[in-house]
Amino acid sequence: MKTVIQLLLLSTLLAGCMSHSDCFKNPPSFFCPTCGEGTVKELGGLKTYFTGRPYSKLAVIMISDIYGYEAPIFRKVADKVGSAGFLVVAPDFFHGNPVDPNDPTFDRVAWGKNHTADKGYDDAKPVIAALKRKGVSAIGVTGICWGGKVAAKLAGSDYIQTAVLLHPSRVTIDEIKEVKVPIAVLGAELDKGLPPELLKQWGDILSANKLDYFIKIFPGVRHGWTVRYNETDTFAVKSADEAHQDTINWFTKQLK
Ligand SMILES: *[C@@H]1O[C@H](CO)[C@@H](O)[C@H](O)[C@H]1NC(C)=O
Ligand SMILES: *[C@@H]1O[C@H](CO)[C@@H](O)[C@H](O)[C@H]1NC(C)=O
Repeated sequence: MKTVIQLLLLSTLLAGCMSHSDCFKNPPSFFCPTCGEGTVKELGGLKTYFTGRPYSKLAVIMISDIYGYEAPIFRKVADKVGSAGFLVVAPDFFHGNPVDPNDPTFDRVAWGKNHTADKGYDDAKPVIAALKRKGVSAIGVTGICWGGKVAAKLAGSDYIQTAVLLHPSRVTIDEIKEVKVPIAVLGAELDKGLPPELLKQWGDILSANKLDYFIKIFPGVRHGWTVRYNETDTFAVKSADEAHQDTINWFTKQLK
C-alpha cells in the first residue's frame, strides 16, 4: 500500500513539475531554520536570512529554489557569498510554505499556483526598497532554479544592477530579450530544462543586445548542482565550489 502511494505521489510530481522532473531531484534532507552564520529578521515584509557584512552598501539578494531559504546548503552558499564582503539577504519568498519533500499530501499544482515567479517579482520590490532605505547603493540578485526566473524578470527592470542565474527554470526567450543589466548564467551540461543549445541561444540574444554577460556550462553535472549536491562526493563539491566562486567573482566585478 505504502509503495502504491509513493508511486502515485511520484507520478504526480513528475507529471506536474514546472518544466522537468529535475526540479525535485536531490531535495535537502531537512529544513534548518537555525542553520548558517547569519540571522533571520524581517525585510520588506518577508522573513529574511541576513548574512555577510551587515553595513555593506553592496547587497546581494538570494532567491532560493522550491525548497526555500531554510535548506542547509543554500544557507552555506549565502554565507560564502557574504564572506566576500557583501550584505546577503535571502528572503522567504514562499511565506513559510516551501516544497516539503516529506509531505505526502503535497499538491504540486496548487503549490505552483500559490508561488508564481510573478508573485516572487512583486514580493522582491519591497525588499529592494527596504535595502535602499538602509543605504544600500548597488544590488545584485542571484536566483536558483525557481528563483532564477524571478531573477531574470528583475534583470529586465531598473530595480537591480546585475543578476546571476544558477540553473534557472522556465525562463522564456522573451524574458532573456528583456534583460537590461549585466547578467551571468551558470548551467549544467545535463539539464533537460535548460540544455546547452538553449543557453547558447540566450548568449546570442544577450550578445546582439550588447549586454555584458557571462554564460558557462558545467560539464558532468545536473540541474540543481550548485545547492543540492552530495557533500561527500569530491566531484560534486568541486563543481559546486567553482559555481559559487564564479558567482562571487561576477558580483565583485559588477558591484564593487
Ligand atoms: C497556499 O498559500 C496559502 C497562504 O500562504 C497557504 O495557507 C496554503 O497552504 C498554500 N497552499 C499550497 C498548496 O501551497
Ligand atoms: C555521496 O557520495 C559518496 C562518495 O562518492 C557516496 O559514497 C554516497 O553514496 C553518495 N550519497 C548519495 C546519497 O548519493
